[in-house]
Formats: sequence, structure tokens, C-alpha cells
Amino acid sequence: MEAVLEIQEVLRTSGRITVLTGAGISAESGIATFRGDGGLWDKYKIEDVATPEAFKRNPELVLEFYNMRRRQLLNVKPNPAHFALARLEEAVRDRLTLITQNVDDLHERAGSNRVLHMHGELTQARCTSCSQVVPWTGDISVTDRCESCGEALRPHIVWFGEVPFHLETEIPQALEAEIFMAVGTSGSVYPAAGMVLEAKLRQKLTIEVNLEASENTPFFDHHLRGPAGVVLPEFIDACLATHK
Ligand code: OAD
Repeated sequence: MEAVLEIQEVLRTSGRITVLTGAGISAESGIATFRGDGGLWDKYKIEDVATPEAFKRNPELVLEFYNMRRRQLLNVKPNPAHFALARLEEAVRDRLTLITQNVDDLHERAGSNRVLHMHGELTQARCTSCSQVVPWTGDISVTDRCESCGEALRPHIVWFGEVPFHLETEIPQALEAEIFMAVGTSGSVYPAAGMVLEAKLRQKLTIEVNLEASENTPFFDHHLRGPAGVVLPEFIDACLATHK
């Protein structure tokens, strides 16, 4: 396949790869995506659970939404797509940048060491006042307090209307990579959705892995259609077959 040859050439010449993942990569692990039938945004309204205003209005409801999702992490495991990206990192080291919109920890549990969580992480809590971030595995309650300043805690999650993480330095640098690949994302939430266009404007090679066409499909040079847990390992292993 042409895309495999192009990636092999980039790897041979010490080029860089950036991979953006979305909810679709964790779907085969049993974590619901946001959009489409049975998606989280079918069951909950964004404005009730995923905005700073919602947290001010009803902190218990917002905390429970994320507590439920944090508890779910105990019952899910990384799937072959997460492991394939960990193998890619092992092979090319810091020439891979993995950016995820996901707040689960499945990339880390599969062995990826360098993950940019642009929408935050369920396994961390943040102080609403001094912004200190601490590891957090249990529920967050309205009575939990920051160890440093004594103020209330919130999930370390980027809500709608807030600015995603790593936009200043790491992500712009990553978009200079020779290859931009997006896996399991609908391309409907910016700024992540705009990354493929930025990569295209810089004349980079772009590859989409998705079950079906996304909003951004026209901007990708190559399309790998099917479940990420099947097509991504096959593709990455083929790309790495000639890599020493
Ligand atoms: P979406 O739920 O919008 O899209 C999931 C995408 O994954 C769709 O394009 C599906 O076709 C695809 N998909 C589903 N199962 C798949 C599989 N097994 N293999 C490959 N592809 C599959 O999720 P995101 O694009 O990640 O933000 O959503 C972006 C952001 O919107 C999220 O980070 C979240 C949400 O609102 C915040 O909460 C800030």
C-alpha cells in the first residue's frame, strides 16, 4: 500500500510522525464515543456536564459525570490499537508525538510514555483556585479540598469554553512532522479538528483511520477504513517491518 511505503521512507530518513487520537480508538475497549448512536452526547447535554457554567450551577452533577467515567476506567483495558501506537513509540522514540483528545489512560496503560492529553485526564484533579494538579483515582466530591490552599477540587478536564492544553509549544511543533495521522476522531471539535488542515497547508502527508468518513475526510491523503483495533496494528506493523 502506498501509505506504508511513504511512512517507511519517512522512518528511513529519520522523519517525524504525529498521531492525533479521539474517542474511536477507545471504543473497542468499551468506552462510548461522544457522537453517533449511543454516544455520550446522546445521553447528556454538554451544557449540563461539560462547561464551567455547569460546574458553577450544579457541581455535584458535573463531578458525578466524571466520577462515573473515572470508575469505568477500572473495568476497561487498552486494545490492539493502543498497543500498536506504543510499539511505534518504542521503535521511533521521540520522533513520534502522540496527541490525544481522550481523557482515559489507555495509551499509558498500553505502554506509551509521551502522551499529550490536550483535553485533560480523568486520573487527575485540579484545584479550582491555585490550579495545582494532583493524581486522583477515586471519586471527587464537593467536600474534597486542595492540599496546598484548601480550596475546592475539580476534574483536570478541559470543558467547552476553556483552552486545551499544549497549544502553545508542543502541538505547533508536532504539526511540523512529515506525517500527520488521525485515529478515531470525528473532526468536529476545534482546535483538534483543524490540525489536519494545518498539516496539509504545510504539505505534510495525512492519513485517517476511522470506521467511516469524518467531517475532515476530504483533507486526508490516505484513508484506512475499519475498526482501529484491527486496521491500525496491521498498518503500523507493516510500516515497521523494514525499520531497524
Ligand atoms: P467523537 O465521538 O466525536 O467521534 C468518534 C469517531 O471515532 C467517529 O468519527 C467514529 O466514526 C470513530 N470510531 C468509532 N469507533 C471506531 C473504531 N472502533 N475504530 C475507528 N474509528 C472509530 O469523538 P472525538 O472526535 O474524540 O471533548 O470527540 C472530540 C471531542 O468531543 C472529545 O475529546 C470531547 C468531545 O466533546 C471534550 O469533552 C472537550
